[in-house]
Amino acid sequence: MNILVTGGCGFIGTNFIFLMKKRHPDWTIINLDKLTYAGNRLNLIDLEKDPGYHFVHGDICDQETVLSTLEEFKIEAVVNFAAESHVDRSINDPSPFISTNIRGAQNMMECARRAGITRFVHVSTDEVYGTLSMDEPAFTEKTPLAPNSPYSASKASADFFARAYFETYNFPICITRCSNNYGPYQFPEKLIPLMFTKATSNEKLPVYGDGLNVRDWIYVDDHCTGVELTLLNGTPGNAYNFGGASEVSNIDLVRRLLKILGRDESLITFVKDRPGHDRRYAMNFDFAAKELGFKPEYSFEEGLSKTIEWYQTNDDWLEKVRSGTYLDFMDKWYGERK
Ligand code: NAD
Ligand code: TYD
Repeated sequence: MNILVTGGCGFIGTNFIFLMKKRHPDWTIINLDKLTYAGNRLNLIDLEKDPGYHFVHGDICDQETVLSTLEEFKIEAVVNFAAESHVDRSINDPSPFISTNIRGAQNMMECARRAGITRFVHVSTDEVYGTLSMDEPAFTEKTPLAPNSPYSASKASADFFARAYFETYNFPICITRCSNNYGPYQFPEKLIPLMFTKATSNEKLPVYGDGLNVRDWIYVDDHCTGVELTLLNGTPGNAYNFGGASEVSNIDLVRRLLKILGRDESLITFVKDRPGHDRRYAMNFDFAAKELGFKPEYSFEEGLSKTIEWYQTNDDWLEKVRSGTYLDFMDKWYGERK
């Protein structure tokens, strides 16, 4: 199978490509990535010698590039990971989110439709469902979309386009909605790698608000397996929820991380809350379990240890990423939050 993966130089895309190459050595994977601040071509540089892997530097909003890539590599299936993915950035400036997450996603669907692609997985998020109180049941695929941040609003818009492409054109698209991922290669502006980086440099760990916001954490390989199952066996028109069955509050997570690293809790500092901060996400993935056989393999303890070990043995990766632009942005925000 010839697959086009977009955003393959980002966190989940990188892990997905490595895992698929291991599980399906016969697949040819084309990775189309714009290489924004979050895209790191070096992640997959060793694969560039593999004749079954090709990197294309391009923007999912660019119709010509997408159409010519689909044609040149005789693409049969598309997995669209490419996105602006950080909520805080979307609060700072929603524009790139509208461009990539809505216009880019729709352009991918349109080009794939014109090229006669028979399988398209659009990677979305649990954040499109909005927020839960502590005693509400977890989100199901039937939960109405109620996004609260510019990021989740842009992702929900693309989900509506995916639905419209299926209903209007019978376009063979599935949507996946997954909870918070963690694991190797995650950009250090997201909670776990950010806190790891700060703790190991003896810097303050900024916890938003009261720290009691809850996320359902899933190890990245489990999400990638969900996307793989959708690609192979998903029914067009369906959305599938994936989660890790691991609800943890932010403060609890940060304390666990400090304990593993042997650092003192006095590093924790409570800072101004994120505007519109969703209180709790939780995923009911019974439908994916029944239809696709999905089941998360990693417990949070196991996944967290694996992740910390990876960051400890890949400090050169972290150092290269840290020397990029992200520090300026984060400093600006933390300055305003304190
Ligand atoms: P990421 O920010 O680490 O990576 C995004 C990648 O997309 C980067 O390589 C970037 O260069 C590329 N990209 C951005 N704009 C592009 C454009 N216009 N054209 C081509 N490439 C472009 O993101 P991630 O955490 O790997 O998330 C991947 C997908 O999974 C996103 O769609 C996100 O919404 C979704 N998702 C993420 C999580 C999570 O916890 N990280 C959870 C659920 C769903
Ligand atoms: P994040 O990794 O940005 O993912 P998302 O907002 O998509 O869930 O944040 C995870 C949680 O951690 C979220 O509740 C916000 C919180 N958080 C902090 O408390 N401090 C931080 O510095 C960051 C980046 C996040």
